[in-house]
Amino acid sequence: MLTPKQKKVLDFITSFIKTNDYSPSLEEVAKNFKLKSVSSAHQFVDALHKKGYLKKIENQQRSIELIIGLVEIPLFGYISAGEPIEAISNPEPIKVPHKMLSKSGLHYALKVKGDSMVDEGINDGATVIIRRQETATNGQKVVALINGNEATLKKIYKEKKGFRLQPANSSMKPIFVKDLIIQGKVIGVLPNYEDTTRPTGKIAQTKIPTKFALDRIISGDVLEVMSQIPDNSIHLAITSPPYNVGKDYDNHNDRMNYQEYLEWLEKVWRETKRVLVPGGRFALNIAPTGIKDFVPIHHDFANQLRKIDMKFRTEIIWYKQTMLKRTAWGSFKSPANPHIVPSWEYVLVFSKDKDRLDGDQKNSDITKQEFMDFSDGYWKIQPETKRNGHPAPFPEELIYRLIKFYSYKGNTILDMFGGTGTVAVVSHKTKRRFIHIDISEEYNRVAQKRLDAIKNPPQLFGENSYRFAA
Ligand SMILES: C[S@@+](CC[C@H](N)C(=O)[O-])C[C@H]1O[C@@H](n2cnc3c(N)ncnc32)[C@H](O)[C@@H]1O
Repeated sequence: MLTPKQKKVLDFITSFIKTNDYSPSLEEVAKNFKLKSVSSAHQFVDALHKKGYLKKIENQQRSIELIIGLVEIPLFGYISAGEPIEAISNPEPIKVPHKMLSKSGLHYALKVKGDSMVDEGINDGATVIIRRQETATNGQKVVALINGNEATLKKIYKEKKGFRLQPANSSMKPIFVKDLIIQGKVIGVLPNYEDTTRPTGKIAQTKIPTKFALDRIISGDVLEVMSQIPDNSIHLAITSPPYNVGKDYDNHNDRMNYQEYLEWLEKVWRETKRVLVPGGRFALNIAPTGIKDFVPIHHDFANQLRKIDMKFRTEIIWYKQTMLKRTAWGSFKSPANPHIVPSWEYVLVFSKDKDRLDGDQKNSDITKQEFMDFSDGYWKIQPETKRNGHPAPFPEELIYRLIKFYSYKGNTILDMFGGTGTVAVVSHKTKRRFIHIDISEEYNRVAQKRLDAIKNPPQLFGENSYRFAA
């Protein structure tokens, strides 16, 4: 934490650099603060350097050159240090001193509301830097998710029958809970952060939303956007990645080197596991590719996911009935070298950590008939014919079945390769929340249009009003 005087020195250096495009000399720092000697200015600079706010470049012509060493992390909005408030908000980038971050791991920031952590120097209005992790030891300051969606900042202690969340303020009582999810550990505190290091003051002027980008079409690279989704926040991920078969996507090279392609997607699977709640499901649609040169891509994906300890629950055969158009026979009418043409795709289903997805039974909205139909893992569904300029959109029925079978009403569904928004659309129709990510603005525009077209038509919100033929 900075002392008030150190903060004033940092403010001066920041605004000096902003005005002049170069840093002040030690003499200028001393003069501005009427310090007796340059060495007193040096002490301040040294302290700011040690706390990670400045980098010093030695041996320059100006007696000292100062550079603010900042890195960007997402600011997710407010966290309650007092009474728990609803968790997770829409991220804004925020710059923080790089030295404050751990050497490894993902980080995010939260603004503190309330005074229950004041004895630990975390005051109302401070910004805390959090390292994402799911475990903590007794006495550590953590962001804890309790009662499903309320986040609070407290010191954590394991008790016989659960956990004690202890305020660092003697006038406040601890909270006892049976279960909680740790969303990260506090590793640093920035008092009045925007005043010191954000020259534009943008965050102070921006209204920070109270939800993390739910029910929105997000344009961006899958890994960049996913890194901003909090741990343990998704109940069901459904996706179909590019198959690396040379499809003509708007903004993606679909002919990568196969090894690079697998390495890229393994990173996506790891992120998927991180963001899923315990018991959360991952339904991955994929098909073997290449008829002559067969590539068992579904096996490679299954192996990757098993390697990262996702539980392989089942595989669904999506039979597409596309044989009528077949042309690749190989050695026609001869056993010399005949070809099998895959007229099906798979949906590989995994879960994180455990089989059960906790939820309120009153939010289970699958009918008896649907349950019986969908639990037969051979799904005959025609491919989507309305393509909206996309080479490979999902048919809505496939997504409807997955959502109804594997999630509760009100759950959050993620499609990280969202394309033209089928998962978003069906999530909305079935009263689930969604996060849609795609790198193509063109496909995202189509997805937004589809959503706008179905938003709030009254007939969609009656019980079982959205139903496909089995
Ligand atoms: C098989 S398609 C998904 C289609 C989607 N299921 C639908 O119903 O329209 C794969 C999608 O991944 C997107 N994509 C490719 N590279 C990406 C990346 N780096 N980040 C995010 N999306 C990407 C493509 O733009 C494409 O829309």
